[in-house]
Amino acid sequence: MITNRTFTMIKPDAVENGYIGPILEKITAAGFKIVAMKYTQLSKRDAEAFYAIHSERPFFGELVAFMTRGPIVAAILEKDNAVEDFRALIGATNPAEAAEGTIRKLYATSIGENAIHGSDSDENAAIEGAFHFSGREIF
Ligand code: RTP
Ligand code: MG
Repeated sequence: MITNRTFTMIKPDAVENGYIGPILEKITAAGFKIVAMKYTQLSKRDAEAFYAIHSERPFFGELVAFMTRGPIVAAILEKDNAVEDFRALIGATNPAEAAEGTIRKLYATSIGENAIHGSDSDENAAIEGAFHFSGREIF
């Protein structure tokens, strides 16, 4: 198991608001290397599969509608302790509770539209990276 990689998506709200550049700047300034990256849009089927763990939650329909409404940037990132350090960099799910200087504090608007995704475990980082990228796209 690779433990120095994580997976991220810059979500549709942040893309719409013009924050791709500032967010990538924060990510690279924090020491993450971009291993793979693409600008794409999730289908309903993609979003439902990606967030299947939340399928019974009351916000699932809203989450799928949000994640499919516009383009995203998907990327695999590399750094020592990537999963934990990246979750610290993006901040709490609810931007109102996110620490100063975190990506969600700076660029997210609400708990639903929170600018960025970060994998929550090494296992999920590997699953999510493979969901979005094939072997020859990953360096
Ligand atoms: P993510 O998976 O996107 O990195 O976010 P997370 O771990 O911080 O939060 P998680 O509990 O996995 O929730 C996934 C995404 O669902 C949306 N959400 N909406 N309306 C709500 O109460 C609510 N709660 C969660 C957010 O977009 C959250 O990032
Ligand atoms: Mg999550």
